[in-house]
Amino acid sequence: MTKAEARQRVGKLREIINDYRYRYHVLNESTMSEAAADSLKHELSQLEEQYPELITPDSPTQRVAGEPLDAFEKAQHSTRMLSLNDVFSMEEVEAWLERITKLDSRVAEAELFIDIKFDGLACALRYENGQLVQALTRGDGTTGEVVTLNARTIESIPISIPASETVEVRGEIVMHTDDFENLNKQRREAGEPEFKNPRNLAAGTMRQLDPKLVAARPLTFYGYELISDDTLANDEQYKRMRQLGFRTSPAAQKLAKNDIEAFLEMWEKKRAELPFNTDGAVIKLNDRSLMNDLGVVGKAPRGAAAFKYPAEEATTVVKDIVISLGRTGAATPVAVFDPVHVAGTTVQHASLHNADEIDRKDIRIGDTVVIHKAGDIIPQVVRVLPELRPDDSKRFYYETALKRQYPDLEFERPEGEAVYRVKGGSSQMLKRGLQHYASKGALDIDGMGQKNVEALVDAGLVGDFADIYTLTTDQIEGLERFAEVSARKLVDAIAAKKNPPLNRFIYGLGIRHVGEQTAIDLANTYKKLDNLGTASYQDLKDVDGIGEIVAESILAWFTEDDNQTLLSKFRQLGVWPQDVKSIGGPLVGKSFVITGSLESMSRDEAAEKIRALGGTFQTSVAKGTTYLVMGTKAGQSKADKARKLGTEVIDEREFQGLL
Ligand code: IVH
Repeated sequence: MTKAEARQRVGKLREIINDYRYRYHVLNESTMSEAAADSLKHELSQLEEQYPELITPDSPTQRVAGEPLDAFEKAQHSTRMLSLNDVFSMEEVEAWLERITKLDSRVAEAELFIDIKFDGLACALRYENGQLVQALTRGDGTTGEVVTLNARTIESIPISIPASETVEVRGEIVMHTDDFENLNKQRREAGEPEFKNPRNLAAGTMRQLDPKLVAARPLTFYGYELISDDTLANDEQYKRMRQLGFRTSPAAQKLAKNDIEAFLEMWEKKRAELPFNTDGAVIKLNDRSLMNDLGVVGKAPRGAAAFKYPAEEATTVVKDIVISLGRTGAATPVAVFDPVHVAGTTVQHASLHNADEIDRKDIRIGDTVVIHKAGDIIPQVVRVLPELRPDDSKRFYYETALKRQYPDLEFERPEGEAVYRVKGGSSQMLKRGLQHYASKGALDIDGMGQKNVEALVDAGLVGDFADIYTLTTDQIEGLERFAEVSARKLVDAIAAKKNPPLNRFIYGLGIRHVGEQTAIDLANTYKKLDNLGTASYQDLKDVDGIGEIVAESILAWFTEDDNQTLLSKFRQLGVWPQDVKSIGGPLVGKSFVITGSLESMSRDEAAEKIRALGGTFQTSVAKGTTYLVMGTKAGQSKADKARKLGTEVIDEREFQGLL
């Protein structure tokens, strides 16, 4: 991105983030998920890192959270209400523990205390002589809003406790998910708009000026910290809070470092069983005095961390829209993204299902979109952020794209369906594909000509490329075209090609626009099929000789679920191409044209040898061709052209020498 482009983008990002913040914090409305907003903030801070001169004091990256509402009275917190530093993986948890062990060696042996992280609204409850005297929201951590009257309507907050000393309990106000759903059901029935999520509703409710309204909304308080004169360990604090009549989370426990991972994994799976929403876990040193000794950096204590489960939403830019062909010949549009991390994996593309869906969501190439992905579930484009649409965004025209990407295929749109399919459907596609897969330049399997392939497919013995490796002589012998010997021969010929060279395998997959030479270039660049399968659009375009259409086509192939299924089937059957080991070879950078016929080998064999050594095989002499090999009965025209272009002309013996 140029600086001018960055400046424009930064401006738009700030506008949309500021709008989000204002609505979220002040109006208690939500324009997008927090995860999506975080994603935009992340992009903004990256751009500001790249162009620090674009940073302005009013940028959302330069401020701290919390704008207290005007309507409530404010009060000081007894001690600052801290927040926590986030960690996003076990590696980061370990790095954090290592860091603080270096600061204080007692951490090495220390016990930890862990709890689910509530996704609600923090609140500090102050009791004097056993009576609730004040409830304060977090505010900016130093000053909060006085919400005592509202807090008194929440049944899980005791109005009096059996303690004469001054006690402060801090914790989180949440709305249980079933309470939330009941409320929304009532609203639906009353024809009223539904609430977005329990956290916003809890926060919005606590900021209502009329306590009667609060009383009508079921909220629950869970304690997680006890501020008192004696420094109790965290597990003892929890015990004491329960004695005083507070709820604490059912997940909280003391544990050793080695058990953190198991806890996080278990609750990530089981979190739906909790009565409230959680977005992670809070890990603290159990020993509170050790925690205090470690001190505070910025707004967060060193002795605690918040582990965040991977966000299920993020934003990214649509780089392109390609059409992928499924096994059934269905032509599905797929969005190609700048790679983005969502719910623990990198997402590079998402199906857009059909042209109507693209129109409905108004998705254009260049748009910034919100992507949703939960765990193993397939990523989806939720919506476009039109505020971030660049002036040069491009509309996608399905039919035009279809013709451009698949000029040699005929399509039809079956009645009542939203996508086009290849004419002749799946069996036609499979037959053509299999013949190509087995052809000389690809896997080179004897006995898989047109007639035999048709017989195998029509008999229902083969439903995809991988099925040929499961064929038995008995099955084949049953077909009219085969006898025992030819059946055995075919099975053996197929089995002999279980681990072909990578370039032949890539070529054999039949990816549109990937010819033999492109397959070689790809094999030499990526070395392993998996690397090719995970290459991004930009990576592919950076390969010499690969342009937009080829890159689109490769992506489209790997984005197709049917093809992913095929690849895993191949893998299970032990059918997999060899990795490219030799880096380059003696003929790297040298190109060859052969004219006439060679005595010692066929042209195909010669081409293969050249490629195996890293060279390029060409069919005609062009500027830059290194050698023209003159075979027998070679015409003179190529030789003349070669001399003119400065290509060295050699005979078969010299060629042998080079090999
Ligand atoms: S303990 C020094 N335990 O998440 C602060 N906090 O992102 C110790 N939170 O500031 C806080 N669930 O408001 C703790 N089980 C839990 C929590 C929890 C939610 C909040 C808390 C904290 C924020 C950090």
